[in-house]
Amino acid sequence: MNIYVKDEEIATKNIVPQKRVYGEQLFEENGEEFRFWNPNRSKLAAAFLNGLEKLEISQDWKVLYLGASTGTTVSHISDIAKDGLIYAVEFSPVSMRKLVRLCEIRPNIAPILADATKPKKYMDLLEKVDFVYCDVAQPNQTNAFIDNINLFLKDVGLAMIMIKSRSIDVNQKPQKIFKQEEKKLKEKGFSIVEKVKLEPYEKDHICFLVKKNF
Ligand SMILES: C[S@@+](CC[C@H](N)C(=O)[O-])C[C@H]1O[C@@H](n2cnc3c(N)ncnc32)[C@H](O)[C@@H]1O
Repeated sequence: MNIYVKDEEIATKNIVPQKRVYGEQLFEENGEEFRFWNPNRSKLAAAFLNGLEKLEISQDWKVLYLGASTGTTVSHISDIAKDGLIYAVEFSPVSMRKLVRLCEIRPNIAPILADATKPKKYMDLLEKVDFVYCDVAQPNQTNAFIDNINLFLKDVGLAMIMIKSRSIDVNQKPQKIFKQEEKKLKEKGFSIVEKVKLEPYEKDHICFLVKKNF
C-alpha cells in the first residue's frame, strides 16, 4: 500500500504532487511526496493508527464510498488505489460542489450525488467493487451499508463501516450499540474480519471490517 506509518503519524503518497486537499502538510521521503493523513479528520486514518491490519487496499481496487463529504478520506484512498476507481456517494449538494472540484484533479474519483439509502437509484452508474466503505453517520446506516454490499460488493470483497454510537442512540451506552450493530451484521450473513475502536481520535466510535459468508 502507498501508506507511510511512523510512530503516531500516517501519510499517503501524493498522486497529485504539490496539491493539498484539506490543508494537510506535505513532506518528502526518498524523493517521493507524501501527504499527512490527519486521524482527527479521517476515521480510516484513526483505524490504521489504532492497529487495523487486515485491510490492504490494492492500487487497482474499485471502491464504493458512502458519505464522501468534501473528500478528505476519499482523497487518501485515491492516493492508495491510484490505478483503481472510487465511486464517491454524497447527498449534500454543498459538499458535492467541493468534491467535484477534487475529482477534476484526481481522475480516479467518480462523484455521485445520491442518497446512500436508495442504492437502486445509482445502480446504472456502478460496477461490482472490491471494497465498500460507509461513513454516513445516520441511525439507519447499517441497513444502507448492507443494501449497498448486496448490490455492489464482489463475493470476495471487503467492506467497512464506521459506527458513531451517538448517531444511533444518544441514550444508550456505546458498548451496547456496538454489540447490537455487530449482531445485525452477523445475522445478515457477514463475518467480522476485524473491529477497531477509534479513540482517542473519535470518541465512542468503532469500525467493523466485514466480508460476506458463503
Ligand atoms: C461523517 S461525514 C463523512 C466524512 C467523510 N467520510 C470523511 O472521512 O472525509 C458524513 C457524510 O455523510 C453524508 N450523508 C449522510 N447521510 C447520507 C445519505 N443517506 N446518503 C449520502 N450521503 C449521506 C453527509 O452529508 C456527510 O457529508
